[in-house]
Amino acid sequence: MKTVTTVAEVRAEVRAWRAQGLTVGLVPTMGFLHEGHKSLMTAAKAGNDRVVVSIFVNPMQFGPTEDLASYPRDLKHDEALCESAGVDLIFHPEPEELYPEGFVSFVDMNGLTKELCGKSRPIHFRGVCTVCNKLFNIVKPDRAYFGEKDAQQLAVIRRMVADLNMDLEIVGCPIVREADGLAKSSRNIYLTAEEREQALVLSKAVKLAAKLFADGERNAHVIIDAMTKLIETMPLAEIDYVQIVDSLTIEPVDVIERDALAALAVRFGKARLIDNVTLKV
Ligand code: PAF
Repeated sequence: MKTVTTVAEVRAEVRAWRAQGLTVGLVPTMGFLHEGHKSLMTAAKAGNDRVVVSIFVNPMQFGPTEDLASYPRDLKHDEALCESAGVDLIFHPEPEELYPEGFVSFVDMNGLTKELCGKSRPIHFRGVCTVCNKLFNIVKPDRAYFGEKDAQQLAVIRRMVADLNMDLEIVGCPIVREADGLAKSSRNIYLTAEEREQALVLSKAVKLAAKLFADGERNAHVIIDAMTKLIETMPLAEIDYVQIVDSLTIEPVDVIERDALAALAVRFGKARLIDNVTLKV
């Protein structure tokens, strides 16, 4: 396994693989890797001859008051985890490598990004689309792997790839959880012991949504109210949103008649955590 920092180095490696007829999987990440990321690497390894992991804390997807500066970083740990997952190449560029002076081009979209995380993070998905577009152009992977924990991001990327005729397959991988249910996230490191305990309510809330839906409830507001009430039992929880949206359009629904996403974002102290469940009709 190699770690490289320039676009030219990635292209040289991938060109050599392509010359041998090998397929390439890409796992885009912001580092501080955990078992959730590792599951993406494992899926990429199973589906491709070579695996590239990008580790880049993308400034373009952070708002001015967000945690760009304090976002956790640990390249040594990340390299060890990638090595153990059989990754072939890590791309770890500096911001100037991807956004040199004079950079003015963006990829944005007119739908899917107004609800859920897009409400409180208005520039987030423009940054995600732009960097993923760049990574796809640099690595030219056959497949790219994204976690279902960021369900809106996955829907946005799928839409972008379809709309812009990008020549790769997007593979979504299931949420990986701690033994007690908390979804794995690089931002869990921000939680104090008390916040960590109370944050368990998030996975309980999505479980509750799944149970109500399985029991036949189709009124989205009834499910949202039940989730909200449960989360509000935790004094440290500050709800950003609890919403039910159409899985494809990410538009709110009143009655669940097509596959929908019950999704939430809640702050516990410095950590803003997300979780979701797909309600399959
Ligand atoms: O999900 C993430 O870690 C990031 O949003 C991504 C896809 C690596 C783009 O920076």
